[in-house]
Amino acid sequence: MKNHLSEPLIEKIRVLKKSKNAVILAHYYQIPEIQDIADFVGDSLGLAQNALQTTADIIVFAGVHFMAETAKILNPTKKVLIPDLNAGCSLADSCPPDKFRLFKSNYPDHIVISYINCSAEIKTMSDVICTSGNAIKIVESFDKDQKIIFAPDKNLGGYINGLTGRNMVLWDGSCEVHDVIKTEEIIRLKEKYPDAKLIAHPECKAIILELADYIGSTTALLNYTRKSDFSRFIVATETGILHAMKKTSPDKEFFIVPTDKSCSCNDCPYMKMNTLEKLHACLYNEGPELKLSKSVIQKAKKPILRMLKLSV
Ligand code: 13P
Ligand code: SF4
Repeated sequence: MKNHLSEPLIEKIRVLKKSKNAVILAHYYQIPEIQDIADFVGDSLGLAQNALQTTADIIVFAGVHFMAETAKILNPTKKVLIPDLNAGCSLADSCPPDKFRLFKSNYPDHIVISYINCSAEIKTMSDVICTSGNAIKIVESFDKDQKIIFAPDKNLGGYINGLTGRNMVLWDGSCEVHDVIKTEEIIRLKEKYPDAKLIAHPECKAIILELADYIGSTTALLNYTRKSDFSRFIVATETGILHAMKKTSPDKEFFIVPTDKSCSCNDCPYMKMNTLEKLHACLYNEGPELKLSKSVIQKAKKPILRMLKLSV
C-alpha cells in the first residue's frame, strides 16, 4: 500500500539496505509500508527463526524491543538496529525482573516457561521460551506432572492450561491491546455479519477465546484466512495483520474488532512507533543499536535455542 510521497524514501532504504548488507525483519503489526519493504514479515517465531539464519551484517528489526533483543541474543556479533528504541511492549513491561525473581522463589520445584513477549532479563530466568505459535508444543514437551510457572501472559497461559489439562502457575500479566477487546463489539459485528468467522489471538481474554472459531498466532490467523472457504472474518487482534490478510486474500473481507470507538482499528501504540522515516534514519545512522551485556546474552540464549530446537 505505497503512496507516491513515500516512494523516494523507499528507494533510499533499498539502496542503503543493499550497500550495508542489511536485512529488514518486520512483524505483521507494522504499518503496511514497512511490511512491504521488509525482507521477511512474520510472527514472533518466524522472526526468531529468520534472525537465526540470516547472513546479513546488520539486522534492522521493525517490531518491538523484546523482538529485537531476541535477534541480538541469537546474533551477538551482528549489529541489531531498531527504528525506535522506545517501542516497548505492555505485556513485557507487566513482568518486572525483580518482582518475577521473588515470585519464582516461591515455587522452587517449578520450571519456568516464558512467552517470548518478555524482557531479556526474564528470559535469563526461564528454562524455555515459547511463542503463540508453538506454546502448546513447548508445554507438552514436559511430563504431565512437571510443575510449571508460565509468564507473563495470563490469557495465553490460561488458554494453554485449558487445552492441555495442565495447572501452570500464571504470572498476572497481559497485553494492553488484546486484553481490552470487548465482547460487545464482537457481538455487534457478529450481528452485522452473521456469516463471518471470528478469529482471535490467544492474548485475548478467555471470554473472547471461547467465542472464537479459530485461535492462533498472527501467522496462523493469516494462514487460516488464506485456506478457509469462508469469505468474511471478524479479526480479534492488532490492525496491522489486515494488510497481509487483504494482500493474500483480496476477495475476502476482514473486520477488525475496534477498541477505539472513533476508528475501526485496534493499534498497538508501540508497534506503530516505527515509521518509514525512522527506518530510513536508523539504517543511515546505523543506530539506535540494540545492546545487551554478554552475560545476559549467554543466559538468555539457552531457553531461546531450546525453543527453536523444539519447534522444528
Ligand atoms: P505473534 O507471535 O502471534 O505474532 O504475536 C506477537 C505479539 O506481540 C502479539 O501481540
Ligand atoms: Fe506487546 Fe500487545 Fe503490542 Fe503485542 S500488541 S507488542 S503484546 S503491547
